[in-house]
Parts: sequence; C-alpha cells; structure tokens
Amino acid sequence: MVKLIASLLLLAVVAQAYGDFKCALSKQESKSFVRELQREREEHQLKEKQNLSHEGQDQECKGSLAVPEITKDWVDMKDACIKGMRNQIQEEINASYQYLAMGAYFSRDTVNRPGFAEHFFKAAKEEREHGSKLVEYLSMRGQLTEGVSDLINVPTVAKQEWTDGAAALSDALDLEIKVTKSIRKLIQTCENKPYNHYHLVDYLTGVYLEEQLHGQRELAGKLTTLKKMMDTNGELGEFLFDKTL
Ligand SMILES: *[C@@H]1O[C@H](CO)[C@@H](O)[C@H](O)[C@H]1NC(C)=O
Ligand SMILES: *[C@@H]1O[C@H](CO)[C@@H](O)[C@H](O)[C@H]1NC(C)=O
Ligand SMILES: [Fe+2]
Repeated sequence: MVKLIASLLLLAVVAQAYGDFKCALSKQESKSFVRELQREREEHQLKEKQNLSHEGQDQECKGSLAVPEITKDWVDMKDACIKGMRNQIQEEINASYQYLAMGAYFSRDTVNRPGFAEHFFKAAKEEREHGSKLVEYLSMRGQLTEGVSDLINVPTVAKQEWTDGAAALSDALDLEIKVTKSIRKLIQTCENKPYNHYHLVDYLTGVYLEEQLHGQRELAGKLTTLKKMMDTNGELGEFLFDKTL
C-alpha cells in the first residue's frame, strides 16, 4: 500500500515536471536568437495592447510548481555595469548588422567580390557571437531573470553601399575603433569602486580587448596592402586583393 502511494506520488511529480519542461521547450523552439527576441517583443507588445499584465503572461506556463525561494545574495552585479553590458550587447549586434550589409553589397552580381563578401559575412557572424556571449555572461551572473524583450533591438543599417573594397575596409576599421572604445568604457565602469567586477573586467580585457586590438591591426594591414595595390593597378589591384581574402 505504502509502495503504491509512493509510486503514484512519484508519477505525479514526474508528470508535473514534464509539463513544465515541455512548456519551457515550446518557448525556445525558434532557431534564430535575434528572431526569437523580436518575436518575444512583438508578443509582449500585443499583450500590452490587450492590457494583460506581465503576471498573466507568465501564468500561462507556470504550472503549479512554485519558484523555490533561495538566497539572491550571489546575484551581485551593480546597475551601471549591467546597463553598460546591455549597451555593449547592442553595440555588438549593431556591428553584426553593419558587416552583414557589407557582405551583401560585395555579393551583388554587379559588384562580385567574393573574397570581401566572405570576409564580411564571417565578421558579421563573429559580432553576433560576441553579443550572445555577453548575454550568456549576464545569465551566468543571475541577471537574466526577467523578460529579455528590451535587450536587443534590430538596428537600421546606416550604410549599404561602398565605392570600393578600400572604402569598406576603412569603414570596418572605424567600426572596430568604435567598438573598442565602447568596451574600454564598459571596463572603466565595471572596475570602478564600489563595483570592482574583477571577473568581468578580466574577461572583457583578456578576451574582448585582445580580439579588438588584433582585429584592428589586421584590418589596418589589409587596408595598407589594398591601397598600395589599387594605387598602382586600380581595379585590377582590388580584383587581385579580393582573391587573397
Ligand atoms: C489596464 O488595466 C489596469 C488594471 O487592470 C488599468 O489600471 C489600466 O487603466 C488599463 N489600461 C488600459 C490602457 O486600459
Ligand atoms: C544601434 O543602432 C541604432 C540604429 O539602428 C542606434 O539607434 C543605437 O544607438 C545603436 N546602439 C548602440 C549601442 O550602438
Ligand atoms: Fe565584437
């Protein structure tokens, strides 16, 4: 008898957990990260229009399992630094879209520079990864407990055409300089007293700044070579340089 009750109880617990699990899964189906965020934002706006409260929205999938109360003392990032991180995420996403536009431009049949196109598409992918790594970092620090609807906005891309490869590489270098400055500012914010977020500052310095500085040097070198080739050989120089990318 006791055994029977115990197994019934176990079954009920498993079924409940499975329900919550399925619910969580169905919320994560979409493949694209940015698309998912955008969809979430649209849903949120729709709900707001229908004047449903945030709580009502969460209720859908909450089931009957109460969120256990555990200490939040480990969640200790400070506001200015969090705000800076969120800004940096958007900065990386913006850069990603700008590179995407560059890749698309050099892919045009009327432009046809496959080397440049591939180079910029790769850069776009890397920037998006930089953005999502920072989202992961915030999550690791317990800072993604609420809706992420306002975390990422799809930017409008400022520029979509370039006179030649050199103009695009020059813009890419400017973009990287802007991102580098933004990371440096974020580091300064987060290392300030009383925050002293050593771990994050170490990560931003060792991983993000490291990549920025090497990336800038690489772009500067490429731009120099390309300009030399174009000075002596014009379009042929650009055509040949494209093969090296
Ligand atoms: C939405 O609902 C709240 C409370 O239920 C109410 O105070 C508020 O005025 C409503 N907003 C609109 C736009 O109807
Ligand atoms: C991202 O780009 C948008 C333009 O679409 C701009 O308004 C916004 O300030 C940019 N954000 C950052 C952090 O650079
Ligand atoms: Fe980046």
